Amino acid sequence: MQVAPFGASLPPISEAMDNAVHESWESAQKNWRGSVGLVKLLSLVNESGTHLHGTRTTMSRDLQHRRLLITGASSGIGRALAEQASRLGARLAITARSQDKLEALAHDLSAPGTEVLAIPGDVTSDADRQRTVETVVDQFGGLDVLVNAAGVASFGHFADSTEAVVRQIMEVNFFAPAELIRRCIPVLTNGVQPAIVNVASMCGRRGLPAWTEYSASKFALCGLTEALRGEMARFDIDVLLILPGLTRTDLGRNMLRNEGRMKIDFAAGMPPEDVARSIIASIQKNRTETVLGRDARWILRVNKFFPGLVNRLLVRKVGQLYAHS
Ligand SMILES: NC(=O)c1ccc[n+]([C@@H]2O[C@H](COP(=O)([O-])OP(=O)(O)OC[C@H]3O[C@@H](n4cnc5c(N)ncnc54)[C@H](OP(=O)(O)O)[C@@H]3O)[C@@H](O)[C@H]2O)c1
Repeated sequence: MQVAPFGASLPPISEAMDNAVHESWESAQKNWRGSVGLVKLLSLVNESGTHLHGTRTTMSRDLQHRRLLITGASSGIGRALAEQASRLGARLAITARSQDKLEALAHDLSAPGTEVLAIPGDVTSDADRQRTVETVVDQFGGLDVLVNAAGVASFGHFADSTEAVVRQIMEVNFFAPAELIRRCIPVLTNGVQPAIVNVASMCGRRGLPAWTEYSASKFALCGLTEALRGEMARFDIDVLLILPGLTRTDLGRNMLRNEGRMKIDFAAGMPPEDVARSIIASIQKNRTETVLGRDARWILRVNKFFPGLVNRLLVRKVGQLYAHS
């Protein structure tokens, strides 16, 4: 997640750059051929009258009186989002497993003119997802924005992990938001400027060693988000993707495994309030995809143009960490 330590182990830059430029040229040629096909596909889509809202930039979404459901609201990014959305006058439904934390947050946010509904539940349980959506519809009469922020991580090499870990991480980070979205689509269809907001991670665009299961789950969420964006245009539902870098939350403390060798200092990450502020801005401005954090922007940008270089840096770092094992 943190980029700086990799910089300490750069391979000879000229050799790395030569290879990277060569690979990038090859990939650019492939991409060029691909883009001709893409242009044809897009023109077909356009001819068929489909409107892709992801490219819309002029829209603004006022959160006052909007009905928001936020998962993972008991802590970190989800909690900060709930606090800020409530200050903007949104009608909030918050969910997570920790009933005490949710109720305390609902109590803290309660003020004249605010509405905060705490619905404790496990996102991996279909019964809980159904109850959550039914409660929101019952209390608010509908839903305008679904924010999938609940998540869990695992840190350590895949070879030493277990099937239980990879299945659990996929349950929380992928199947749960996927199935909650499916339940919410009919409700969102009747919402006001409806949107689905998926909080993935920079690991959803660049897999990182020792974040293998986490990266896989976030790649799956990114794929779902991208594919849904076209489908949801039928219902006028916008689908937004958030890709944060390292953030100062409890994610590190709540990991399913914490056995990686590289030191990851969550305390040095972005404050969750800053991340939440940017997510709110993305919802208001209807930004299709938002990368948050300097490290995340740097690594994703370099990876886009020089994936071979990033691979070599990562391989070299893992080699160093395991040199004496
Ligand atoms: N922190 C980072 O560096 C970072 C970076 C990129 C992306 N993200 C993503 O940001 C999102 C928020 O994470 P965070 O950093 O704010 O971590 P966090 O402080 O640990 O918060 C995670 C939230 O998810 C909830 N949750 C976990 N498992 C759940 C389950 N089975 N059912 C219901 N709720 C569940 C937790 O609540 P309960 O325990 O009460 O259920 C908690 O509210 C996650 O999707 C994470 O992958 C975080």
